[in-house]
Amino acid sequence: MEIIKTVKQMQQAAHAIRTGGESIALVPTMGFLHEGHLTLMRVGKEHCDRLIVSIFVNPTQFGPNEDLEAYPRDTEGDLRKAENVGVDLVFMPSAREMYPQGAQTSVVVKDLPRHLCGLSRPGHFDGVTTVVAKLFHMVNPHVAVFGQKDYQQLAVISRMVMDLDMDIQIIGVPTVRERDGLAMSSRNSYLSAEERQSALSLKKSLNLAERLFNEGERRAQAVKDFVQSYILEHPHTEIDYIALCDPVTLEDVNTLTEGTLVALAVRVGKTRLIDNARLRKQKKSKKQ
Ligand code: PAJ
Repeated sequence: MEIIKTVKQMQQAAHAIRTGGESIALVPTMGFLHEGHLTLMRVGKEHCDRLIVSIFVNPTQFGPNEDLEAYPRDTEGDLRKAENVGVDLVFMPSAREMYPQGAQTSVVVKDLPRHLCGLSRPGHFDGVTTVVAKLFHMVNPHVAVFGQKDYQQLAVISRMVMDLDMDIQIIGVPTVRERDGLAMSSRNSYLSAEERQSALSLKKSLNLAERLFNEGERRAQAVKDFVQSYILEHPHTEIDYIALCDPVTLEDVNTLTEGTLVALAVRVGKTRLIDNARLRKQKKSKKQ
C-alpha cells in the first residue's frame, strides 16, 4: 500500500493509474477508521481497479467551538485497517499542504446547506464541499463513495458534482451500525458507558417513527412530538433538531409519504450525534 502526503505526488500517481487504463475509486475520510468507513472501501473496490482513501481532518469544516483539536486520531491503526481491506493508496496531506497559504477560494452549494446540520453548523458544508472538490481534483476518481449516515453531506456533494459537471459517479452506502443499532461514528469514542446507552435512543426513535407511519400516522408534527419525547426520556440528551423532510430538497414536510426523510441531531452529553432513515411501508406479513 502506497502512502502519499503531497498534492503533486498524488496528482502524478492518479495520472499514472489513468494512463495505465485503470479506474479509480476514492473514499474520503477524516480517519479513526471504523467498520462504516471500511464498508465504503469495500464498495469502492467493487467498482474500480484501484482504491484510494484520503485521511484528512479538515479544519475548514469545523466551527470555532467544535472538536477539531479533540477529534480522535489513530494513523497507525488506520493504515493497518486500510491495508487489510486492500486499499492501494492512502493520501494523507497536512493542513498546510491541503490549503496553500493565502487560500481564498471555496465551493459553496447554495440551498441544501440551509437545512438540518447546516443550521447549527454555519459554514460546515462550505468546508466539506471545498475540501471534497479539492480531493476530486487531486485524485481525479471515476467513482467516489460516501455514507448515507451523513445524508445531507451526500446530498450536498451530489448537487455539487451535478452543478459543476464533475465526471464522477457518486455512490451512497447505507449506514453501518453496531449490533445494538447505534450508527458507527468516530465520535462514538467520546461517549461514556451511560451516554452510549442513551445514544441508542436515536435509532430506536427512528424505528418508532417508522412504526407510527406504518400504523397510518401521516402528520409530521405528531411523529416529531413522539420522537422528541422518546429521546428526551433518556438521560444526557439534548435535541439539536428532529426533521421530517423531503429527501431531495430537505424542506420540511407537513404530511408524511413513503420516502420522507427523518433526520436527527442529538447531543448526548457533549457529543453531537446524527442519524436518519427514510420512511418505508412495511409489507404486511401474510396471515397463516
Ligand atoms: P468521516 O466522518 O470520516 O466519514 C467519512 C465517510 O464515511 C463519509 O462518507 C461518511 O458518511 C461515512 N461514514 C461514517 N460513518 C458511517 C457509517 N456508520 N456507515 C456508513 N458510512 C459512514 O464525512 C467526513 O469524514 C468528512 O466530512 C469528509 C467527507 C471526509 C470531508 O472532509
